[in-house]
This record gives sequence, C-alpha cells and structure tokens, in this order.
Amino acid sequence: MPIITWRDANGSKTSIEVDPGANLMRAAVAAGIDGIYGDCGGALACATCHVVPDAAWAERVGPAGVMEDEMLDMVEGQRMPTSRLSCQLQARDDLEGLILDVPVAS
Ligand code: FES
Repeated sequence: MPIITWRDANGSKTSIEVDPGANLMRAAVAAGIDGIYGDCGGALACATCHVVPDAAWAERVGPAGVMEDEMLDMVEGQRMPTSRLSCQLQARDDLEGLILDVPVAS
C-alpha cells in the first residue's frame, strides 16, 4: 500500500498508508487532515479538497481534467500550476512517497 503524505503550510506532515484505488480526498477526511473537507463528496462542486503535489511528483500525478480545471479556479487558496482536487486522485502503488501540500485556505 502506498504511503501518501499531506503537508500543511507550517511544514507539518501527516503520512497515511492508503489502499490502492482509494480516493485521496476521502482518505484525508477520514484521517482528519486539516484543510481537506470534501464538502461535495467528490462531485467536483466545492473545491474544498485542493492539494498541490510536490513539484517532484507533479508529472507522475498528472494534470487536472477539464471539469476539474474549471473548478480549480474556485479554490480559496492560491491556485498553483500543479494544483489538483484530491477527490479526483486515487492512490496507486507508483505514488508511494507522494507529498501533497495543503494550501492554507483550501
Ligand atoms: S470534494 Fe468537492 S470538489 Fe473535491
């Protein structure tokens, strides 16, 4: 199972072992990651699951889809070039060690 790490604005990290195929927004909410709320349940309607993959991981994580890209314009925190909505991300074995930054006002 890949270990995924969420890093807050202060640099504090929380690492969680996540089942392959599991939704990363749901994993973060279940673990109580501050700043990840998932208000819409993953329906691409709230942007409260904003994460920014560490630059070293951006290519492997991949770009946002069209609808996700539009919703990313609605995030409260600053949108970054590699920003993603974590409800659209699933854990995979090749994401072992992934670091996701959680913007201050997501
Ligand atoms: S949980 Fe609402 S857009 Fe991701």
